[in-house]
Amino acid sequence: MNKKLVLVSGGAGYIGSHTAVELIEAGYQVVIADNLSNADMSGVEGVRAITGVDVPFINVDCCDKEAFARLFDQYDFDSVIHFAAFKAVGESVEDPMKYYRNNLLSFMNIVDLMRQKGRSNIVFSSSATVYGEADILPVTEATPRKPATSAYGNTKQMCEDILRDAVAAYPTLKGIALRYFNPIGAHPSALIGELPRGVPQNLVPYITQTAAGIRECLSVFGDDYPTEDGSCLRDYIDIVDLAKAHVAAISRMVDNKNKERYEIFNVGTGRAVSVFELVKTFERVNNLKLNYKVAPRRAGDVVAVWADTTLANTELGWVAERPLEKTLQAAWAWEKRVRNIK
Ligand code: UD1
Repeated sequence: MNKKLVLVSGGAGYIGSHTAVELIEAGYQVVIADNLSNADMSGVEGVRAITGVDVPFINVDCCDKEAFARLFDQYDFDSVIHFAAFKAVGESVEDPMKYYRNNLLSFMNIVDLMRQKGRSNIVFSSSATVYGEADILPVTEATPRKPATSAYGNTKQMCEDILRDAVAAYPTLKGIALRYFNPIGAHPSALIGELPRGVPQNLVPYITQTAAGIRECLSVFGDDYPTEDGSCLRDYIDIVDLAKAHVAAISRMVDNKNKERYEIFNVGTGRAVSVFELVKTFERVNNLKLNYKVAPRRAGDVVAVWADTTLANTELGWVAERPLEKTLQAAWAWEKRVRNIK
């Protein structure tokens, strides 16, 4: 078994590709598995260009257990980071079975194969969505989860529980669930970044596409929330910082530094930023004016959520470092490169 070899499922996507880069730069070897259902090869090519490493890429659907098992026969890794999942909240409400089938089956296959092969370390991509509208802010890992309001959110909770129960039952397994807050930005090289298909659902890609002239106008969903400026508060975490949290999680398990065999960490900055503040910061640091208007609240949005990051800071030894200004410059640099804007 090669302790330095990590399988990154969904490694062609936004978070997966950035994580692959940070793993390689930290001395790990990476195999990317992705079925390209919501990504293309540009992410993998970007990883190769940034690192100078010809990272192996396997086109496989994690739900196809036989094909997936062959990958585990072929490579001798002992760690996996599982990103491969559907993530559109609205679509998951309209077609929940698509989400349950894909997101649960792929993760169960990973857990089964890791166990059958006697491999140990599993990192699961969870989300701050599990906290819902929390009673006390900021949220710690001990903050109770709220019932999910979408199938997407429910698959995050269910996969956390699958990992918890599997680790409890099978002594060879260890697991870490990372609860991401709002990942934004792009690699400073502008060789990888977020490239949503169709109309962006998330704030920052909508902002960058509006600045690029692809979208006419950003709608700020609600200015009548009980916050200082009336817009929602979120904890926006730089994608490279977020990627580094995965390296810390893998190293913690590889080096046997985990205190429990199943652990959960919030991955955020600890800072609450409003939608208006984010828009204004984007304008200021990139020296442009954004076309935006106030629109009605979006169904399902929580007023505010941000992280208490004490546990990740002390236990993982990981801290979010990149200031929002740099992150928003990187987001715009990436959009400009993709759209050929000078
Ligand atoms: C969303 C998902 C969350 C998921 C996360 C993944 C919902 C309700 N939540 O989080 O489950 O884990 O993405 O990245 O979809 N906004 C605008 N205009 C826009 C887009 C967004 O004003 O065009 C506002 C939203 O109201 C929100 C903030 O920007 O206050 C962030 O929105 P978004 O980027 O979609 O993230 P979340 O809703 O926090």
